[in-house]
Amino acid sequence: METSDIPGDLTEILLTEQEISDKIQELARRIEADYTDDRPLLVGVLKGAVMVMADLARALKIHIDMDWMAVSSYGRGTQSSGVVRILKDLDSDLTGRHVLIVEDIIDSGLTLSWLKANLETRGAASVEICALLRKPDAAKVDVEVRYVGFDIPNAFVVGYGLDYAETYRNLKAVAILAPHVYE
Ligand code: PRP
Repeated sequence: METSDIPGDLTEILLTEQEISDKIQELARRIEADYTDDRPLLVGVLKGAVMVMADLARALKIHIDMDWMAVSSYGRGTQSSGVVRILKDLDSDLTGRHVLIVEDIIDSGLTLSWLKANLETRGAASVEICALLRKPDAAKVDVEVRYVGFDIPNAFVVGYGLDYAETYRNLKAVAILAPHVYE
């Protein structure tokens, strides 16, 4: 879906399809350079990370493995609670693996902070994070993120995997949702 398909739903286009694509290539080059000796296991966090995982994995010119987790915050409204429940766990054994968590966005940081700590207890050789988007003004905890695509304002953004009530994930751009949609 293009932004022009739903003009009334959006107030501002933050990142175009081209800008996202260029950034994914840039991140892929950095990741390749850092994982020359160790085949990384990319862990995508469902559902939002599907788009970035699909594009990043194909941009990488090295062999990788891919696995998926689904997590959910307890008592979540529009804010993370920090208490995370695993809905779908990894199929892979992490012993000795170099894990790269792939996320669409870091908002409060609570999900990734919990997830990184959780994966670190499973015997991984390393656990790093790649997030396409980060909202610095929404951070509640500091999470060390090795690869960040863009820092964005603390607004309600949708697209490229990010949803509002499961809608807009298939928008190619990242855009700010018009308040009339959710108010
Ligand atoms: C989003 C995103 C991260 C999390 C970030 O997922 O994909 O996992 O929120 O928020 P935090 O930094 O405040 O913890 P969400 O729970 O909306 O699920 P989804 O990926 O299925 O949309």
